[in-house]
Amino acid sequence: MSGLRGKRDPVVAIVGATGAVGREFLALFEERAFGHGELRLLASARSAGGEIAYRGRAHTVRALSREALEGVDLALFSAGGSVSREYAPIASEMGAVVVDNSSAFRMEPGVALVVPEVNGALLDGIGAGGAIIANPNCSTIILMLALHPLRERFGIERAIVSTYQAASGAGAAAMEELRSQTRTVLDGGAPEPKVFPEVCAFNVFSHNSKVDEATGRNVEEQKMIDEVRKIWGGDSVRISATCIRVPTLRAHCESVHVTLGNTAGVDEVRRALSDAPGLELVDDRAGNRFPTSLRASGRDAVLVGRVRVAGDAETDGAGRARSFELFIAGDQIRKGAALNAIQIGERLLGMA
Ligand code: A2P
Repeated sequence: MSGLRGKRDPVVAIVGATGAVGREFLALFEERAFGHGELRLLASARSAGGEIAYRGRAHTVRALSREALEGVDLALFSAGGSVSREYAPIASEMGAVVVDNSSAFRMEPGVALVVPEVNGALLDGIGAGGAIIANPNCSTIILMLALHPLRERFGIERAIVSTYQAASGAGAAAMEELRSQTRTVLDGGAPEPKVFPEVCAFNVFSHNSKVDEATGRNVEEQKMIDEVRKIWGGDSVRISATCIRVPTLRAHCESVHVTLGNTAGVDEVRRALSDAPGLELVDDRAGNRFPTSLRASGRDAVLVGRVRVAGDAETDGAGRARSFELFIAGDQIRKGAALNAIQIGERLLGMA
């Protein structure tokens, strides 16, 4: 039984309230009429004393500290890994349930890594008192929404994913860098990269996370592999990822080649996807209308389309195959981060 279930007017803290995900938490609270008591907006000392408008009035931002976490029931952390590593254990020891958006605790054995539509049942076993629950990486969440219904219905043997990731994954400063670099290039200038290692405007480049010299994989690619395996509970799924940044603002796209455990027809695959929670099928072959980053931006649903038998698949006489290709687009700040964390909170509180 969750320590939060049925709690009326929980005290909620947002750690990283001034960031891209922090502000989305507030927008979603408002949109979803999320019921809470006192709300603490916490950020670095740089932002202390500033104000953020929420539900029609100005709320003052406070510096994150142990005292600021006293009496908090639910703490939503999105201030980066080092802040989480220092303060999430403190918040949980003080009795809060922490939903952490960073990668700091995702792979810790005792920490649940949750996409509510996939393994939300894990939350029902969270006991009273403090706890840390990890929000998966944004690319993992978006991928899992599309792959999980296929796994449930047909089994999955392997998946090969290529991402097209927006600037928002690197935070508000990265989004601003993309905007200002775009203006600079259009004005005929040559932008200097600051947040990203490469120029972001009008460019496509390998994900900015560190590359392991032995495997050649960057951290983002390894996260996707490890997190999918943890969420599904084992190494039996063979998964591979190539993570790329593109000059879009806030929705990630992913191209997926998936080999199912059993053969299926394309209409059966489409039906499994269109029936799945959190997904919306956008698959208009005649109109060449499919998921796009703009179509997914600001939306809760992850969009899936371009559903087709893979070009390298063996098909039987009835056109059934085991390998399919899909294209996915999901708002990185919403379902990839803030919405997923809020859905976790809602389930813990018994609202969902
Ligand atoms: P601040 O605005 O005061 O720097 P984003 O992911 O969009 O870059 O946002 C990061 C968030 O994490 C911001 O709200 C930022 O606050 C916050 N943050 C960064 N460093 C700290 C810190 N040491 N303590 C608390 N919050 C932090």
